[in-house]
Amino acid sequence: MGNSCSGKPAAVPRDPAPPARRRRTTSPLAEARLSVAGRPSVATKRMSDVSELTESDVSEQSEWDALLAQPAEETAVRVAIRSRPQIDGESATSIRGNHVSVGDTNFGPFDATLDDHSTQKATYDGVARNVVEQALRGFHGCVMAYGATGSGKTHAMAGERGDAGIVSRAIAQVFAVSGAESDETHTRVECTYVEIYREQVRDLLVGDAGASENALPPPPQQQRGRALQAGNRTPPRAKTPPRAKTPPPQKQPRIREDERRGVFVDGCTRTRCRSAEECIDAFRMGSRRRAVRGTAKNDRSSRSHAVFTLELTRTTTRGAATVTQASRLHLVDLAGSERVKESKTTGDGVKEAGNINQSLMVLGNVVTALEDKASKRRKGDINGAARVHVPYRDAKLTRLLQDALGGNAYAAILCCVSRAAADASHTTSTLRFASRLKSVTTAPRKNLDPKDMEILRLRRENAKLRAALVDDGMRL
Ligand SMILES: Nc1ncnc2c1ncn2[C@@H]1O[C@H](COP(=O)(O)OP(=O)(O)OP(=O)(O)O)[C@@H](O)[C@H]1O
Ligand SMILES: [Mg+2]
Repeated sequence: MGNSCSGKPAAVPRDPAPPARRRRTTSPLAEARLSVAGRPSVATKRMSDVSELTESDVSEQSEWDALLAQPAEETAVRVAIRSRPQIDGESATSIRGNHVSVGDTNFGPFDATLDDHSTQKATYDGVARNVVEQALRGFHGCVMAYGATGSGKTHAMAGERGDAGIVSRAIAQVFAVSGAESDETHTRVECTYVEIYREQVRDLLVGDAGASENALPPPPQQQRGRALQAGNRTPPRAKTPPRAKTPPPQKQPRIREDERRGVFVDGCTRTRCRSAEECIDAFRMGSRRRAVRGTAKNDRSSRSHAVFTLELTRTTTRGAATVTQASRLHLVDLAGSERVKESKTTGDGVKEAGNINQSLMVLGNVVTALEDKASKRRKGDINGAARVHVPYRDAKLTRLLQDALGGNAYAAILCCVSRAAADASHTTSTLRFASRLKSVTTAPRKNLDPKDMEILRLRRENAKLRAALVDDGMRL
């Protein structure tokens, strides 16, 4: 399956189902099967002879086939380049078509290039839209902004007041689709938001009592008020004088892996979002808690890698059968590589820079290993490819994004650069990284609930056996 962007605004992703006229009582596929040049098909006629066999038994298999279809191939990571507006000084970088050059060195082609004048919408359409569509179809996804400090990663992901970035646009796309669902589908949206700061995973939604399902119970006074409203004349008295409730000590979120869920963060706040507004509020609130520091290169330099994750659980019910697809969409704003000499940070700032650069180096090593794997596979050296060690566990960032980088996800990376001559060496190193990313592939699979799949398999087997019985009966 391709990884290209559709460019259509908030298109409702549909699983590929054959087109057919719609009748009130049957599904399009059931109709197509019932009628061949206006006559009932042989199979349908046979089945309609037996009272327990219904039209939906006939159509169901193909309908579910379309819903459950898995892509057969690997897909390339989508790589886009965006240059931020130049403030002053000489420019060393130029964009021509899908190529970018720094001085005499040419890089590309990339999947998309966005110059200084590109809008946030064009960036979203060129980078993220397709990944979000795939997430709504049950595939894991990851959209990540990479680049040196001050190159525009946070601007692209979080946006600024009145100029929404990729995260808000992705949320809007998800809710545009889930709001237009038919009666047979329902999407539950939850979000988590963590940052990796100096190799520690920190929950950015902790204490979000308004929206969180982990919210503490209401304070005693509020409970008494509720009891009164419910008709109790004398409110229950608190046994001890009311005390300020101190929240329990925060459990350190941990990265874990299991067969069903893949790699995920355990022990962080999971917030149920019933509207786009609720979800954007959670993102904004978490972003305010993120570690930020002013440096000589950026007034608001991100000192952590921030991972905002939308967890989508889509349930489709047709007749008596249900299928649940559960996908995770990571939206990642990385901290930027920096040289302390240029950023002029001191004290903790220097330690932060050390951690940031170290984890980005591991990300580079992971990409090198994945490139090596892909090249061996292309040459037919399957055993050699399997032996390549990918050092995901060397940093929390790569461990958390393991599925997205080389596994079960559609991934798109926005590489942000500055065109200024003073930043040429940073831009060159970002473009080298982007070029290497181009050969990384992933193998996305729809994440379907195995229990539902087993029930479906049994229903199909049952339908097949009943059809065979009918065949035998007809021959007698
Ligand atoms: N495409 C753009 N259009 C307008 N302003 C931009 C753009 N890209 C970046 N900027 C501005 O440049 C400054 C630095 O951008 P930003 O904070 O996004 O950088 P960053 O890559 O996140 O850096 P860091 O790694 O230090 O966090 C901000 O003031 C931002 O508004
Ligand atoms: Mg930033």
